[in-house]
Amino acid sequence: MKDLPPVTDPRVIIGTSTADDAAVYKLDDRTALVQTVDFFTPVVDDPYLFGSVVAANSLSDIYAMGARPIFALNVVAFPVNDLPLEVLSRILKGGSDKAHEAGIHIVGGHSIEDKEPKYGLVVNGLVAPDKVVSNAGARPGDALLLTKPIGSGIISTALKGGHAGEEAASRAIAVMTELNKAASEAMLECGVNACTDVTGFGLAGHLYEMMQASGVKVLVRFGDVPLIEGALELARKGIVPGGTRRNLDYLNDSVDWQGGVSEVDKLIFCDAQTSGGLLISLPRERAQKLLQGINDKGGLQAAIVGEVAESDGKAKPITVIK
Ligand code: CO
Ligand code: CO
Repeated sequence: MKDLPPVTDPRVIIGTSTADDAAVYKLDDRTALVQTVDFFTPVVDDPYLFGSVVAANSLSDIYAMGARPIFALNVVAFPVNDLPLEVLSRILKGGSDKAHEAGIHIVGGHSIEDKEPKYGLVVNGLVAPDKVVSNAGARPGDALLLTKPIGSGIISTALKGGHAGEEAASRAIAVMTELNKAASEAMLECGVNACTDVTGFGLAGHLYEMMQASGVKVLVRFGDVPLIEGALELARKGIVPGGTRRNLDYLNDSVDWQGGVSEVDKLIFCDAQTSGGLLISLPRERAQKLLQGINDKGGLQAAIVGEVAESDGKAKPITVIK
């Protein structure tokens, strides 16, 4: 994108200059349109669950911006000659049911023929222009809150190779299909400084983007980071997705790993997530209240995982202690 002409339209509130979750376009003084698109190849065998995960993931970018989704469109690639059409119809049903759970409809879309199935959504949302929650607002003194446990990348990879137990698999699927709706609503009630959702770049990568965009640094206590039960054991056996290893390679020099953090811990901290939780930065004194608010709405293992501090621009943006 850096080789493309810069965005000059003054109505674009959030475009390509920050690594934010969605584009935000001002319609008038009271309303801005928020739009995001995501699509990927199957992460689970069951077509219906794949559709649910995809929809929860696509909606997540809208929730991360503090917006309310209004409608979505399907993006589909499918091998019509190699797989029965019922498979596609189950994928779309999973997406549609999840969209309904979010209170919206999928009102159209586009499909092409392709060797490997791919499914995604374009999601539109609305937000007041002055209520946009960006990833660039984290402040020194903030607490950092993560609303879902991590490790879904490791468990999905184990599933594909037939190495994941049924319980770990169903826990990961529950995490990936959980909407970030309730967490986002709790966040808006509480008032926060910054938010993003944890997806392909892992907790480490999305944290890095938030710290860089905000010009601050963060101290994370690894022991406080919620993990999906079973992920640690699988990672110890060397079952780690390629994307997770690439995340660690890319970020290794930007993280100050303190004593006691093992190689496996580092991989988990960088594990590429599908449909992960919200990562929220907010004034420390309100963090417990938000945690309570998310838990009251049925949150999955939300936790306070670190604290934000001033950066002199020279220190590494992330420190991890055990
Ligand atoms: Co995102
Ligand atoms: Co996205």
